[in-house]
Amino acid sequence: MHRKILAIAFISMSSQPSAWARDITFDADVAPIVFKHCSTCHHPNDVAPMSFLSYQEVKPWAAAIRESVLTRKMPPWKADAHFGKWSNDWSLSDREIDTIKTWVDQGKKEGDPKSLPPTPVFTTDWKIGKPDAIIAIPPHTLTATGPDEYEFFTVPTNFTEDKWVVSAELRPGNRKIVHHAHVYITEPPAAKPEAGKAEAPTDPQAVYRKWLIVHEGKLSWIRPEAPVIDDGCVVDDNGYWPGNKPKDDNFGKWGMISSYLPGREPDVYPEGTARKIPAGANVTFQIHYSRATKKPETDVTSIGLIFAKEPPKQVAKRVDLSNLSFRIPAGDPNVEVSECHTFKQDLYMTSLTPHMHLRGKDARFDVMYPDGTKETLLLVPHYNFNWQITYKMSEPKFIPKGTRLSIVSHFDNSPNNPLNPDPTQVVRWGEASEMEMMDGWIEYLDALPGTR
Ligand code: HEC
Repeated sequence: MHRKILAIAFISMSSQPSAWARDITFDADVAPIVFKHCSTCHHPNDVAPMSFLSYQEVKPWAAAIRESVLTRKMPPWKADAHFGKWSNDWSLSDREIDTIKTWVDQGKKEGDPKSLPPTPVFTTDWKIGKPDAIIAIPPHTLTATGPDEYEFFTVPTNFTEDKWVVSAELRPGNRKIVHHAHVYITEPPAAKPEAGKAEAPTDPQAVYRKWLIVHEGKLSWIRPEAPVIDDGCVVDDNGYWPGNKPKDDNFGKWGMISSYLPGREPDVYPEGTARKIPAGANVTFQIHYSRATKKPETDVTSIGLIFAKEPPKQVAKRVDLSNLSFRIPAGDPNVEVSECHTFKQDLYMTSLTPHMHLRGKDARFDVMYPDGTKETLLLVPHYNFNWQITYKMSEPKFIPKGTRLSIVSHFDNSPNNPLNPDPTQVVRWGEASEMEMMDGWIEYLDALPGTR
């Protein structure tokens, strides 16, 4: 039966030139796909465990490759194709998938080496090019045993003038233990108050916030008895702590300049734009170390920065919207958590990144424009903590003032979630992977007068 359908398909396609009318070979047909879509990760010393740079390397994996592309598990790309257009969309077309499948089904032929495209060369150097500045953490040694560690390192930039960053690359020093890392800009620590003059915080918001957040060791989380707000859209608080209003002038001012996450590329800001690191600022590294080797390991993670030659026309900004007050009951397979924000200015969005931890299931970013029309910007139907992808818009997306963004996510705290570390736990906001986060990171540009 199956054969018959195929035969009919061949006949109906025979009027147009079809690749399938001849043998599919690695050299002519498969290598161009693999080199473009797979080798970026599948080469020595990168995130994937095996290298795909030659016929000899790919052939033993053929059956697994066929399966992984048919199920769209590889290359890892999580956005639903119905919504949005993304400049970094590396997913395969139906035809490319069919090419790989047919190649395997026809017996994995090698073909004519003359038709083989050049083997891609990957630099072990900085992907962004030679950095103008490199800032590194002091060497950090991880002992052989113990739980995963979250370490924070604050390093002075010693910049004596404002710097405009056009690209940033966070490089793990030791890929065996660095699971993921972020770097953000922090203000230099305020001068210590004189002895005996330690100031008690009197701002009620600050006092409440201090009560809400528990700090233990290097990690923070929300107090278990804190008020529960699963639907963050009932309050337009920009994902701040309940009862705490963020200052509008702080919107997108500070924040992350680069992240290293599985599947994420270096941060290259849109052309003509740059991110600002003010003179005298520090950078703080937040690094998640996993003891994967069970041996003592040392890491020196660093960030490379390339500066604009002149002040940019546009400042690239990022804002992180979060719900910090949700509560995920033990065992619950489908908990909805949302967060909303109404933009108070015209802007252009340039990328979206959903961020959750191991129980994250799906995420949807919708906007409602001031005229009431709605649009889905991004749908990630099967979120996976191990693939934290930034979805970069093909064209900056104009968002008029008054547009309301809603981010709706679901969490699976049931035993059926293979990543779930413990379905018996009630889970709230916290930095550790075993706790949860519900964030949407948005990169954007201010809409300058005359740009629309
Ligand atoms: C963004 C990086 C990345 C890209 C791009 C990528 N892979 Fe992978 N691949 C990985 C990592 C990491 C693993 C191991 C962890 C895992 O299986 O999730 C992996 C595992 C695999 C496996 C092991 C079996 C399995 O299903 O887990 C196969 C087969 C595979 N990749 C094929 C491909 C093919 C074919 C492509 C291109 C069409 C591709 N990969 C593109 C990172 C990548």
